Amino acid sequence: MKKVLFASLMLISLVAFGQKPNVVILATGGTIAGKSDAATSTKYTAGQLPIEDLLTAVPGVEDFANVKGEQVVNIGSQAMNNDVWLTVAKRCNELLSKGDVDGIVITHGTDTKEATAYFLNLTVKSSKPIVFVSAMRNSTSISADGPKNLFDGIITAASPDSRDMGVLVISNDYIYNARDVTKSNTTNVATFVAPNWGPVGIAYNGKPYYYHTTLRKHTANSEFDVASLSELPKVDIVYGYSNMDASIIDNLVKKGSRGIVFAGVGNGNIYPEALEALQKARKKGVIVVRTSRTGSGRTTLDAEVNDAELEFVVADDLNAQKARVLLMLSLTKTQNWTEIQKFFFTY
Ligand code: SIN
Repeated sequence: MKKVLFASLMLISLVAFGQKPNVVILATGGTIAGKSDAATSTKYTAGQLPIEDLLTAVPGVEDFANVKGEQVVNIGSQAMNNDVWLTVAKRCNELLSKGDVDGIVITHGTDTKEATAYFLNLTVKSSKPIVFVSAMRNSTSISADGPKNLFDGIITAASPDSRDMGVLVISNDYIYNARDVTKSNTTNVATFVAPNWGPVGIAYNGKPYYYHTTLRKHTANSEFDVASLSELPKVDIVYGYSNMDASIIDNLVKKGSRGIVFAGVGNGNIYPEALEALQKARKKGVIVVRTSRTGSGRTTLDAEVNDAELEFVVADDLNAQKARVLLMLSLTKTQNWTEIQKFFFTY
């Protein structure tokens, strides 16, 4: 009710004063900014075009919002790292604390967009809209999907209806929340899905339409704060498989991992040698989080693994890459595994 009232008042005042919302685009690269030698070629380089060029592909968007662009980096998202995460989170906090910025769009490669989006979902202290956009086809290819995704991202970031929704991800018309979305296909434009709970809405004819939202804590209600951080704890992911070589776990611990997310088989189950290595890691203070390599469903406590006895944490319905983000941020607050388990049931 409060949100509807706020959205209506904001819209009435914008219309009454003839103002358009102000949207800032933070560009980081990806295929949306990629270029190829031939329109039909699948060979291309990500992160080539500057934000100014991307904006020329969405004529008419100025009817919906005043748009300004900032180039943060211009990289393929396989090269995304902690420094860029921290820079983007801090820049969002700075911009959104200003009265004259109504929303932010972040252009990003599809490969790791889900992790960056979830990181911001937990670290940006604002109710204003933040929307991630990307493309599966580069800017010079036939039927490039970047311009429509960028247009949808801008109108979604400009809409008061997108407030309090947490960080959003737009792709192929659908709007997802950052927590639930994942990339599911290597090359197809319909790659983004939220396998457990579905999209939250759809962008249509210059307007976002929402149907539901997450109950998990995010953005303005998150207790994670990166304002004074210049680095993040080392957390690694280990993928489980039959007959696995568990020495990778010992090596990660030697190299200083403070947390290991184990993408186990089925309900986060673990090959015996790996289980032994994880127990040893836990005894050295490393936090172990069990998740699943299946791609959907919840990893549940104390099913075939005795988490209470081993002091292991379960990731609930988060996939390994999201669990890694939450564990990194959790470790900035506490080393206590039961506290960390609570975070996994809250965020
Ligand atoms: C990347 O993630 O930067 C490359 C792939 C893409 O954007 O679709």
